[in-house]
Amino acid sequence: MKPTALITGASSGLGYEFARLYAANGYNLIVVARNEQKLQQLKEELSHVDVMVIPKDLSQPNAAQEIYQTVTDQQLHVHVLVNNAGFGLNGEFDKLALAEQQDMIQVNITALTDLSYLFLPEMKKLAKDSSHTGILNVASTAAFQPGPGMSVYYASKAYVLSFSEALHGELKGTGVHVTTLCPGATETNFFKAARGEKMKLASSAMSASVVAKQGFEGFMKKQGVVIPGRFNSVGAVAAKFLPRSLAASIAKNMNSAES
Ligand SMILES: NC(=O)c1ccc[n+]([C@@H]2O[C@H](COP(=O)([O-])OP(=O)(O)OC[C@H]3O[C@@H](n4cnc5c(N)ncnc54)[C@H](OP(=O)(O)O)[C@@H]3O)[C@@H](O)[C@H]2O)c1
Repeated sequence: MKPTALITGASSGLGYEFARLYAANGYNLIVVARNEQKLQQLKEELSHVDVMVIPKDLSQPNAAQEIYQTVTDQQLHVHVLVNNAGFGLNGEFDKLALAEQQDMIQVNITALTDLSYLFLPEMKKLAKDSSHTGILNVASTAAFQPGPGMSVYYASKAYVLSFSEALHGELKGTGVHVTTLCPGATETNFFKAARGEKMKLASSAMSASVVAKQGFEGFMKKQGVVIPGRFNSVGAVAAKFLPRSLAASIAKNMNSAES
């Protein structure tokens, strides 16, 4: 029987590429996002595997529980959970709508945490018969420093990295593996969604297919943290050694052309 990967945010960008990769590597899929039409198109495109479409707004507090219920009602078993859905908002904290920033926390942090919690117990059982069982969480290079001009987004990704690294350590020996993918700038709808007209898209921006492939391969090799691209890896190391205030002012410059 084929293993199953549940991928959030599969309607575009990195999540769409993850869906193609997992399908190409023999996984059935459960795909989640708000845009049902795009998910149905994905299902048609990947007709060589079973694809279950779950349209869901992850900013709703009960979203993770409802997804879990739908999956268990269909007696499906999730071997791999890819917590990829997420978004950023560009702008100063007190000038952005509070409700939108709360939605961001709900999608980037709470849904990711809840889905991990709900699917983990069965993953531990499945891991006894499957060597690639686990969670692939999508953080960002934003996780490595504070980000003036996108403060809640950077903080949310710092949570994803810290939480995922802790789970990676906690689950050693259980057969359930946790990888954190920390992409830098990647060519997706992210910047449009963040309304970041002022953000400078780095010339080093990578394609979504390359970034997703590196995340997928890192997960298969049971790596803890994957940072795609030399530029991003060097930046992550630099952020560790620079004073936090200097790292923050570099991020501020990237998030606002006016700085
Ligand atoms: N692109 C970059 O430069 C970059 C860099 C570092 C990290 N990342 C991270 O990579 C992940 C994927 O983003 P992307 O770059 O591929 O951007 P994207 O093309 O905008 O994709 C974001 C995905 O998240 C889903 N999503 C957003 N809000 C949602 C909600 N409320 N409920 C359910 N699904 C929701 C979207 O689906 P619907 O709109 O259909 O709901 C979409 O499928 C995110 O976690 C992002 O933070 C991106």
